[in-house]
This record gives sequence, C-alpha cells and structure tokens, in this order.
Amino acid sequence: MRPVTPPDHPTRDAGFGIYLHWPFCAAKCPYCDFNSHVRHGGVDQPRFLAAFRREIAHAAASAPGRTVTSIFLGGGTPSLMAPETVAGLLDAVAGAWCIAPDAEVTLEANPTSVEATRFRGYRAAGVNRVSLGVQALNDADLKRLGRLHSVDEALAAVRVAAEHFERFSFDLIYARPEQTPQAWAQELREAIAHAAEHLSLYQLTIEPGTPFFGLAQAGRLVPPDDDVSRALYDVTQEICAAHGLPAYEISNHARTGAESRHNQLYWRYGEYAGIGPGAHGRLVLPEGRTGTLTEKAPEAWLARVERDGHGIVETESLSAEDQGDEFLMMGLRLAEGIDPARYAALKGRPLDAGRLAALVSDGLVAQRETGRIAVTPRGAPVLNAVVAELAA
Ligand SMILES: C[S@@+](CC[C@H](N)C(=O)[O-])C[C@H]1O[C@@H](n2cnc3c(N)ncnc32)[C@H](O)[C@@H]1O
Ligand code: SF4
Repeated sequence: MRPVTPPDHPTRDAGFGIYLHWPFCAAKCPYCDFNSHVRHGGVDQPRFLAAFRREIAHAAASAPGRTVTSIFLGGGTPSLMAPETVAGLLDAVAGAWCIAPDAEVTLEANPTSVEATRFRGYRAAGVNRVSLGVQALNDADLKRLGRLHSVDEALAAVRVAAEHFERFSFDLIYARPEQTPQAWAQELREAIAHAAEHLSLYQLTIEPGTPFFGLAQAGRLVPPDDDVSRALYDVTQEICAAHGLPAYEISNHARTGAESRHNQLYWRYGEYAGIGPGAHGRLVLPEGRTGTLTEKAPEAWLARVERDGHGIVETESLSAEDQGDEFLMMGLRLAEGIDPARYAALKGRPLDAGRLAALVSDGLVAQRETGRIAVTPRGAPVLNAVVAELAA
C-alpha cells in the first residue's frame, strides 16, 4: 500500500523535491567549480544507475510518504546520460514515492548536437523541462569560456528542446571580461528572442581553484569592475522586465507562472532529498530539519553506496538559529520575499525591528502590504550584506 502524504507542514507546503546529481562532463570549463569530472575512459552508467537506485531507496526509507512535486537532474552534465539511464532514475523515484500528476521534471543539458539527439528519449523517459547551458551568444566568448558548442549549435539545440518539451530554459553567463553593457544588451535581446518562458542569467564568478582564478590572479583575465558590473546588472533587469521576463530571483527570470518550481522549492525553504555524488538534502525528519551531504568523489560515492546503501557522509541536525538564517538567505533571493512570521517560527524570535526599520529607511528592503519582506532593486546587488544585517 502506498504511504499517505503527511499532513501539511510549514516546510512541506513548498513541496517535496528530488535532486539527482550526475557528476560527469565531456570537458571541464575553466570557470566552473561544480562537482563535475571528466572520465576519458567512459562511465559505467548501469553501475551508477544501480547505486542511484539504492540511494533513492535509502532516502525513501528515511523520508517516506511524501508526494514528489519536482525532480531535478543536475550536474555536471546529465545530458551525457543515455535516455535509458534517465528512465531508470525516474522509475526508481516513482517506485519510492508518489509523484504529483503535475510534477516538474527538469534535466540540465549542454547544447551540443550530440546531446540534442537524446532529447526525444529524455521526453519519453518522463522529463518535461530542460535547462540548457548556452552561456553566450557569440563564438569568441564561447571559446574563451571553454565551451564545446558554437552559437549555431546551441540555437539548434534550443529549437530541438522547444520541439520536444513543453517547458525549457537556458543559462547565460554575463559580466565576462571586456563585456560592455551595450554588447550585453544586444546579446540579451537576441537571447530573449529565442527564449520561451524562462532564462537564468548568472554574473561570472571567479571561483577559487579554477583556471580562471589563476588567470585573474596573474592579471591575464580582468573581470568588469564594480561600476561596469552594476551597469550590466541594471541592463539585465531593465531588458528582461521590458520583455515580460522579470526577475523572480536574483539570477532567474520568467514569465508569470513559468518559474522553476524546483528552484523555488529551495528558495522557499522546502524539503528535498539530495541523491548522487556531492548532493545536499534538507529533510524534515521526526527529530527535526536535517541537512544531508553525500560523498563528492564519484567513484568513492559509488563504493560507499555499494557497501552501505547510501553515500551520506554528513548528517546535520539544524538548530533553530541555523534554520532561521538559511530561510532568510534563501528567501530574500526571491522577489516575493519572506513571511516574517515563518522566520520567527523557525528562528524562535522575530526579526529585529530596529534593524529592519533601518534597512527599510535606507531603501534596501521593503515591507509589502501583505506583511512580506523583500529586498528592493537597490538592495539586490548587496543582498549578502542585507542578509547579514537582518540575521545578526
Ligand atoms: C552546474 S552548471 C550545469 C549546466 C551544464 N553542465 C552546462 O554547463 O551547460 C549550471 C550553470 O551554472 C552556471 N555557472 C557555472 N559556473 C559559473 C561561474 N563560475 N559563474 C557564473 N555562472 C556559472 C552556468 O551558467 C551553468 O549553465
Ligand atoms: S559548466 Fe557545465 S559543462 Fe562546464 S564543467 Fe561545469 S558542469 Fe561541466
């Protein structure tokens, strides 16, 4: 008999999601510090699938009876998986929990022609949304970013995605070296012409330990200064809003109703299981909200799962203090902001009225008629400082 969904829970109201991490890529991009690895000798997909199945069963035993509202196959490059592997993963999730009839099932894909040939198979496996890493719409920058696709190839992949999936999104990275607001504005308008309902627009971050970090340290890669970055950010907000794709989160833009439900679940501090190498989870267990983290290295994760039935290396019981801080950090990324009553319930005390009033009078935070608290367009570029001030 299927377990019943537990009664509504303030955390679970946001849904229950499953994140599955596929940690392999065809090449490592020089800016990327995600848990992604190149395996020239190939990847034993059936063996990894068997391990994912075991870890899914383990998560379902810890958190039974939920209804899954979203599944996200992220990476790495999940579009390197054979459609049969994706079908096996989705079948395992469906065997472990009830799946909501309108569940969102997203797969991250790199926009090469080889990967586009697999889209039909992913659709048949149950994927209903793809998120494509286009990154740039000029070939010189794609090359500098170490990407394996050209603009033409990426746009062809976008067209194939549009044919097979009712929903798709693509990612662009801006604030690239030497990028001017004028050039970005033109590129962004072109992107919007190809986008349907959703775009993720990330400012290039120079991550420690990446080749870009070494180049930046040596002065051979110069990211835009603060003023240019700010101008690039402002151009992004203006153009997207003017085209009906306002930001619903710091880096994510969508038509109303087309937001990524899975990512919203993170930002609304919902409950999710993290499966696969280096995946984070946040489960609401009888003992309280609990963070989980799995072994990062793919082969070490595989060995652990084959030995123990799961690859979890850290389980952390989150204190009220932690939960309030996490909720604030995630929720203030959203244009809809946070419900201060939920913050108080998680944290065990309300927001500091004096600090809140000061941020409101500085124009960095606004309190809506509904009582919700959100960061203003002026506060968004300094979000981390706003969160630190409110959490103190
Ligand atoms: C985990 S990656 C996976 C997507 C897929 N493998 C790809 O590259 O097309 C998700 C997105 O993060 C963004 N990203 C990765 N590293 C970044 C960085 N250092 N700065 C800004 N955006 C970054 C890219 O836009 C990328 O598409
Ligand atoms: S950006 Fe995507 S393709 Fe490039 S290394 Fe990171 S995860 Fe892999």
